[in-house]
Amino acid sequence: MGDMTIRRTARKGRHMQFDFETMLDRVGKDAMAVESLGMPGGFAPGAPKEGYDAIPMWVADMNFPTAPSVVKAIIERAQHPAFGYFMPSKAYYDAIINWQKTRHGVEGLEPHHIGYQNGVLGGLASACGAFTAPGDKVLVHSPTYIGFTNAINRCGRQPECSPLVRDEKGVWRMDYDDMSQRIEREKIGLAVMCSPYNPCGRVWEKWELERAAEVFAEHDVVVVADEIWSDLVLGDAKHMPFHTVSDDARMRTITLNAPSKTFNLAGLIGSYDIVFNPRLHERLYAQGNSSYYNDLNVLSMHALIGGYSPEGAAWVDELTHVLARNAALACDFIDATPGLEAARPQGTYMIFVDCTEWCAKRGRTIDELEQALWDVGVTVQDGRMFHGPCHIRMNVALPTHKVKEALERMADVLA
Ligand SMILES: Cc1ncc(COP(=O)(O)O)c(C=O)c1O
Repeated sequence: MGDMTIRRTARKGRHMQFDFETMLDRVGKDAMAVESLGMPGGFAPGAPKEGYDAIPMWVADMNFPTAPSVVKAIIERAQHPAFGYFMPSKAYYDAIINWQKTRHGVEGLEPHHIGYQNGVLGGLASACGAFTAPGDKVLVHSPTYIGFTNAINRCGRQPECSPLVRDEKGVWRMDYDDMSQRIEREKIGLAVMCSPYNPCGRVWEKWELERAAEVFAEHDVVVVADEIWSDLVLGDAKHMPFHTVSDDARMRTITLNAPSKTFNLAGLIGSYDIVFNPRLHERLYAQGNSSYYNDLNVLSMHALIGGYSPEGAAWVDELTHVLARNAALACDFIDATPGLEAARPQGTYMIFVDCTEWCAKRGRTIDELEQALWDVGVTVQDGRMFHGPCHIRMNVALPTHKVKEALERMADVLA
């Protein structure tokens, strides 16, 4: 696999090789996005009223088929009819090393730096177990991805939120003084850096990562860098892995990544970590291994190899082009709708929409607004689970014509 071949190739207006325009029918095909709508007691949106189909715009998976190279790799492996005990192959490690190098500029990565994690959140749970004690606080930013809140709470630790702040241009930024004060006051030893950022869509710039790294170095904090969204960067933004920011960052960071957001493989489970510091590596592993639930699945391994390939790279380049177009459409709509407000995402396929003004002007609650949207099949997610008091989170990983249809239905509800 040549390095050159998996660099970014998509250009505006380029002929599309892959199908991002057919809406998948996911009903009956193991899809929480459509099958859990309206289930009582859950966190899913309500089901649509009769006469409307559901347009899935909530849980973080995509309404696109995965890359053909992923399906091909799984089928080829499945055709060999034996699935006994196995070891992660050289092709698996090579695929990760090559992908990280060509897509993200990571140098010096070797197989012994890479390990399996049973989900990125599984990796976070292991890090909590390895580097904190029960009751300890773990630094996160807010708005916060609900998976972090749940994973940290379930381990008997507590999330300590350092609020992101909007600058004069409306860009979400970290507050380094606030981070520093909280780390000191709460005696925090572990922090989560979500990069790119779910749900606010930031792709952190180099100086921002450097400032954060300085804070963590000053207080000797171990960092979990969740870079699961790193391949889904829109337009000109550029993802920089946190561990590449400085020598110090390289030695205090546990990077968690996966092909699952990139290639729509969340149901396969197959995340990995990158840890350069042997001491951190050992402690993380002692924790992960103690559960006996932290082993790679052979089909997930082949899925990753199929994704992290030149064909997979070409698919991602087209995908990000479509995601950028969809995000721009949705943000144009939000900008044109009085009372709605959102920062344009630089990465991910999520838009975090502030509905405070709209609700205040109309005398409606966020529950009423969400219900009205869900009734017409626009299944956006309640922002309160991400600490957005009057917000919705909108997933735009759908065929563009479906995003347009959703925006039309939204316009009717909001009018
Ligand atoms: C920032 C972030 N981390 C982790 C996850 C979940 O990762 P996994 O399914 O590998 O546990 C998600 C899913 O939405 C996410 O947005």
